Amino acid sequence: MLRRPRRLRANKAIRNLVRETKLNVEDLIYPLFIVEGENVKKEISSLPGVYHFSIDKLEEEIKEIRELGIEHVILFGIPHDHDKDEYGKEAYNDKGIVQRAIRKIKEIDSEMNVITDVCMCEYTSHGHCGILKENGYVDNDKTLEYLAKTALSHVKAGADMVAPSDMMDGRIQAIREVLDKDGFEHIGIMAYSVKYASTFYGPFREAANSAPSFGDRKTYQMDPANSNEALIESELDVLEGADILMVKPALSYLDVIRRVKDNFDLPLAAYSVSGEYAMLKSAVQNGILSEGAIYESIMSIKRAGADIIITYFAKDLAKMLKK
Ligand code: PBG
Repeated sequence: MLRRPRRLRANKAIRNLVRETKLNVEDLIYPLFIVEGENVKKEISSLPGVYHFSIDKLEEEIKEIRELGIEHVILFGIPHDHDKDEYGKEAYNDKGIVQRAIRKIKEIDSEMNVITDVCMCEYTSHGHCGILKENGYVDNDKTLEYLAKTALSHVKAGADMVAPSDMMDGRIQAIREVLDKDGFEHIGIMAYSVKYASTFYGPFREAANSAPSFGDRKTYQMDPANSNEALIESELDVLEGADILMVKPALSYLDVIRRVKDNFDLPLAAYSVSGEYAMLKSAVQNGILSEGAIYESIMSIKRAGADIIITYFAKDLAKMLKK
């Protein structure tokens, strides 16, 4: 036998030497849920180990994230119910929950890279990701205006990057134009380019109180059966000026991550969503799987082609990587 692959598995140092995929703390983005009120640090029941924070409780958390070596957060705002309306006006309120949180985080740690999720669903009374027509259909072109206003207000508050997650056609261009017109041509867009209509967002919708009050999101988010369409969506976002592409969810879409990676040269992010986290976390908590399953799963996302991973496990992984 001339070829013996086992030679390269002989000891830990050799295995480290030939490892093809390396997970780094620099790859990770940690999602934060910000709520109104004071003195709130409340565990989210659907996402054990993940918390709702009021703005005054962010300091401790941001410092912990920084100490772990994580440099990126993505913010989700949860406004008061009574501030929700048909048009999601609170989404672009300069004094809205996300806008205040951005300012606070920048005050605590000016070098923390603050990315904001840009969407209407947490702010509309009906819970859809855009403005509705009379028949309940989400009005694409009208929604663009609102998304662009929201993105601009985040950037004015100090966001370093915006991440539109609504899946309206043309939103990257609409946001790019508005940012450029206001002198923010240096602010990047991480596009949720390939976002599926997934049941794996369930725990998030509970955490963000953003489930649609009627119908579903299938007229704007993608059909889980499609992967050619992922290339069309990615290409459009590239042409419209996206800086980073994203596939979401991650674990059930590793093939899609690989296809997008092979076809486009932009950095690629993958969002390992709330349902993926909840599934693994409960298996680990119940002693069914060991913690290594978390590492292995996130590694599979990177191996599939993601350069960047948004994950609720970011802090756990940072600790594991330190060991
Ligand atoms: C907002 C948004 C959602 C998620 C991220 N941004 C929910 C949705 O589209 O229903 C899901 C994230 C997760 O499940 O972790 N549109």
